[in-house]
Amino acid sequence: MNGGGREGEDMSDPEGGSGPDSDREFDASESTARELDASDPLAGFRDRFDVPDTCYLDGNSLGPASDEAVAALEHVVEEWRTLGVRGWTEGDPPWFWYGERLGDRLAPMVGANPDEVVVGNSTTVNIHTLIGTFLEAADGDTVVVNELDFPTDHYAIASQLRAHRLDPDEHLVRVESEDGRTIDEDAIRAAVDDETAIVFFPSVLYRSGQLFDLEALTEIAHEHDAFAGFDLAHSVGAMTHDLSGIGADFAVWCHYKYCNAGPGAVAGLYVNERHFGTRPGLAGWWGHEKETQFDLNLEYTPATSAGAWQIGTIPIFSAAPLDGALSILEEAGLEAIRRKSVALTEYLVELTDESLSEYGVDVGTPRDADRRGGHVALEHEQAYALGAALRERGYVVDVRPPNVVRVCPAPLYMGYHDVWTFVDVVETLFEENLLEAADPDAVT
Ligand SMILES: Cc1ncc(COP(=O)(O)O)c(C=O)c1O
Repeated sequence: MNGGGREGEDMSDPEGGSGPDSDREFDASESTARELDASDPLAGFRDRFDVPDTCYLDGNSLGPASDEAVAALEHVVEEWRTLGVRGWTEGDPPWFWYGERLGDRLAPMVGANPDEVVVGNSTTVNIHTLIGTFLEAADGDTVVVNELDFPTDHYAIASQLRAHRLDPDEHLVRVESEDGRTIDEDAIRAAVDDETAIVFFPSVLYRSGQLFDLEALTEIAHEHDAFAGFDLAHSVGAMTHDLSGIGADFAVWCHYKYCNAGPGAVAGLYVNERHFGTRPGLAGWWGHEKETQFDLNLEYTPATSAGAWQIGTIPIFSAAPLDGALSILEEAGLEAIRRKSVALTEYLVELTDESLSEYGVDVGTPRDADRRGGHVALEHEQAYALGAALRERGYVVDVRPPNVVRVCPAPLYMGYHDVWTFVDVVETLFEENLLEAADPDAVT
């Protein structure tokens, strides 16, 4: 990069508050990136992770392994060796309560009471059971979603609608996007009416990174006596939430992205306590009232907590890494994590404007920090070639159709200099016409 400065501009803290270095005026030079890293209070966490490749900017897809996560996994493997089946009751902690116990630790991270959160199933399965539950309980019979959603949400909801003998062509209402990147809150308001059973939205759009105001969406749903449910896959572990405070009805999320709990890690869910006792859409013995689960009655008595939405035996090896990974999140603190994330994404946006816009790279993510999640969408007609060329050089990003390179400077293990070198490498790829040699099929 040419290092051309923007004197007087504070890029470290777009909210004008207390970013890692909010008083600093800085330019686009490499030395400034290094200085920002030097004064970053979260910089030390990087040593606790095995960060693959030269520059890992794909934590929005899969977070890396940490010492704590691997140790927690090894701990349960050892318990399996030494305790066998006794691990269910004698493990430390007992595996029988593992999902509830992790739920207790997650509750403050999503702004809920301990009983309202549990770890179990996968995100998609949790969408199935919760949409099924709330379709049954609702007065209305449509589900309002948006056309930029991650597809699994629509697959699961459409299949639940069919199971309730409702045609998805009529009962799955898709809010449309005007710009192909974001969804307007007014358009959501206009789509919700007295026929609506559930407003189901992501906290952050998986492609553009738009962050929604969950409180406003909950209000829109409740004004029409509909339920408000959320897919928090792209925000849990990246920022604070206040699910109980805003009165959200239910939520689902995964732990393999910003929680760094490993590929296919068991998912999480929240159900507001006013719905305890509601019959789960997909019932199973792991959601049975714990105290009598082993009475093995054929009559199903759901737990009077979010635990009722578990289905089958918790896969302990896919849950244990979360136990370790949560220790890191708790130690770093979600406020500090979000503060650094906002500063890093702001820095990336500014550097992109400065050095890459002349090559046709557009920022597809909202520039207002309050409307931005943890990653930035860089749009370019050769997105796939760019993603492949970057990966060949050890810069790991992913690409989403039609033209988006997603770049995630995850605050626990990435820094300002990583962002700086990333932009520098992209600039070189364009300057030296290196994209032609890249295989666009080599990246996902
Ligand atoms: C918004 C969203 N929901 C759900 C999923 C995936 O669900 P599952 O964990 O069941 O594969 C993803 C995956 O990236 C996602 O981005």
